[in-house]
This record gives sequence, structure tokens and C-alpha cells, in this order.
Amino acid sequence: MSKVLENIISQAKKLNKKIVLPEGEDKRVVAAAAQSSAEKIARIVLLGDRDEIIAANPGQDLSAVEIVNPATDPKADEYARMLYELRKGKINKKTGQPEYADEQAAKASILKDYTMYAALMLKAGDADGLVSGACHSTANTLRPGLQVIKTAPGINTVSSSFVLVAPEGENKYNPDGVAVFGDCAINIEPDAQQIADIAISSAETARVIAGIEPRVAMLSFSTKGSGNDDKYFKSVPKMQEATALAKKAAPDLAIDGEFQFDAAVAPEVGKIKAPGSPVAGNANVFIFPNINAGNIGYKIAQRFGGYMALGPICQGFAKPINDLSRGCSAEDVRAVIAITALQAK
Ligand SMILES: CC(C)(COP(=O)(O)OP(=O)(O)OC[C@H]1O[C@@H](n2cnc3c(N)ncnc32)[C@H](O)[C@@H]1OP(=O)(O)O)[C@@H](O)C(=O)NCCC(=O)NCCS
Repeated sequence: MSKVLENIISQAKKLNKKIVLPEGEDKRVVAAAAQSSAEKIARIVLLGDRDEIIAANPGQDLSAVEIVNPATDPKADEYARMLYELRKGKINKKTGQPEYADEQAAKASILKDYTMYAALMLKAGDADGLVSGACHSTANTLRPGLQVIKTAPGINTVSSSFVLVAPEGENKYNPDGVAVFGDCAINIEPDAQQIADIAISSAETARVIAGIEPRVAMLSFSTKGSGNDDKYFKSVPKMQEATALAKKAAPDLAIDGEFQFDAAVAPEVGKIKAPGSPVAGNANVFIFPNINAGNIGYKIAQRFGGYMALGPICQGFAKPINDLSRGCSAEDVRAVIAITALQAK
């Protein structure tokens, strides 16, 4: 296990947060629930039918796990009411009708969609964080959170980042041995304001999860106006505007751009291309202009650079929600539980 992950797990143990896992039907999730609660990484609430979960997972000791069955939970009516009130006036894009006609319709819906049930538990303060996605798509995992948890104060965009952990040995361009890349997984073509939000949230992830003091580089194919794409996507002015917006919103944060990647990480290039910049040549948080650049970028670091990628870590929610990969192992779920516990305030 990497030092970064060891540190995340030992930090989580000190916090005693309550994490809800709505996918009680998934054996990897149940195994992670048993292990995480036995190790006291977090208090775990698993959603599903107790007898069915125990019968399907005979080897697991679930004595320390709280199992809540939405079908018999006395709080289901309260959550349904809350959902109905929160989403009043919202129209379902597919049907053109109101999302929920009344409280009964909201209740019928949450008894089928346990991710929404878990999001409402979070909203009500009955859990501190939510981890799902082992057997649901990213969109179905995040949508309940986007609809009812919403964003943290001062942030209007939910986004994601990867914590990239360097392979053993010195890397002169990444002396911290860890870096944060955002957004590689959620926002497809963010505008300047959304990129500013991604930068501020990624800096928070760098502090809280990666354990580093962030120095944020806004990335481009241009450094400080050296390139121009006015005829095409206007991505250079977009990154310049995002840099200005992020600096204004977080004046104490070390953030600068726009930079090519080499100007961001190589002191010798930074000095020439962006003299006097507090970030050029020693950045450790990297903000990409869109999901294409970000997703390709982190995979290059992983495959060519030998970095271990931890994530995607969701950021910007008012209360933490994280999305698992459908190919995850129980070990991965345990790591994401610990990350989510650290994000809980
Ligand atoms: C995140 C995502 C799932 C949202 O999709 P969606 O459910 O169709 O979103 P909608 O546009 O219907 O918005 C639903 C609500 O969420 C809000 N929302 C959507 N994206 C948001 C974001 N990034 N930040 C904050 N709020 C957001 C909307 O404002 C809307 O709120 P409202 O219903 O209260 O008005 C979508 O952006 C997505 O699929 N992204 C790519 C994910 C992906 O495939 N990644 C690859 C994995 S590596």
C-alpha cells in the first residue's frame, strides 16, 4: 500500500465518520463494509435487507455494520417528504412531467433508487458521506447528489480529481512524490468559471487527501500568452480568465497560468517562460482545459510515468459523495470509504 493511502487510512481512523453504502447487493461493497468497520476506518451504514445480505455473504462478520432496509425504515416517509420538497417544480427531462407528482411518488422512487435514499440520509445529517457506483453508472451515482446535496458554499461546480502517486525513486519534476490532476472525469467542456471552481476544489483535495500544500497550474498549450487559438476554441483566453477568477475567489492560494506543462513543472523552463511566477516550475496541482486533456493526461502519467492513480475523487459537493469504478475490488472500496471520511467536515 502506498504511503499516501496508508496516511489517508490512518487519518480516517481518527475521525469516526459515518459513511453510507447503498449497494448492499454487491459482495465487494459488503466485504469492504465489514473490513472498514472492523478496522474502525469509519462507521458503516449498508442499505438492503439484513437477512438477504447475511445469506449472500456467509463469510463476512457484519456485527459492527449498521444495516438499514429502506423498505422498513421508519425514516423513509421523512426522506420522501424531503425529496418532494427539494425537487418541487423540477421537470423530468425524459417525460416532460414533474419529477415527483407527490410525496407517495417520491417514496416509491426512493424505494427503488437506494443511491437517492442514501443521498437523502446525507442531506438529513444521518450520514457524513456516501460511496456508491460498484454496480451503478457514474451518472446514476452522481445525479442524486447533484439534485439534493448540491455544491459547497462558494463553489458552483461538482468536479473530480485524481491523486497521482509517484513510483519509488526521485522525480526531479515532482519532488512531493504526489500530484493532483483535475478534472479528468466529470465536466466535459467546462467554462472559465467552472475551471476556476475545479482549481479551488482540486487545491482542497491536494491539502486534505494528498497531504500537500497546493501550487496550482492552469494548463494550456500556451504559456502566458505565447499561443493563440482565437480562430478555434478560444481555450487560451478561457484558461486566462479561469486563472483570474480563481485568484480572485481564493487570493491566498498559490495559483497561476496559463502554462504549458513543462513551464509548470520544470524550474529551468518556468524561469524563462514565466519569470517571477510563484507557481511556474514547481506546480503540484494541474488543472486541464477540458475532460479530453485531463483524462488523456492522467493516463499518460499512469502508463508511461508509472504513477498510481487514486480516484476519480469527487469534489465540490456540500457533503462528500464518491463514485466507485464498476471494476473495483473490495480494497478499492475500502480506500474510497477512507477518502470520503477525510472529505467530511
Ligand atoms: C455529472 C453528470 C452525470 C450529470 O449529468 P445529468 O444528470 O445529465 O445532469 P443534468 O444536466 O440533468 O443536471 C442534473 C442536476 O445536476 C446539476 N449539475 C449537473 N452537473 C453538475 C456539476 N458538474 N456541478 C454542479 N451541478 C451539476 C444540474 O444543474 C441539475 O440541477 P437541477 O436538476 O437541480 O436543476 C454528467 O455531467 C456526466 O455524465 N458527466 C460525465 C461523466 C462520465 O461519463 N465520466 C466518465 C468517467 S471516467
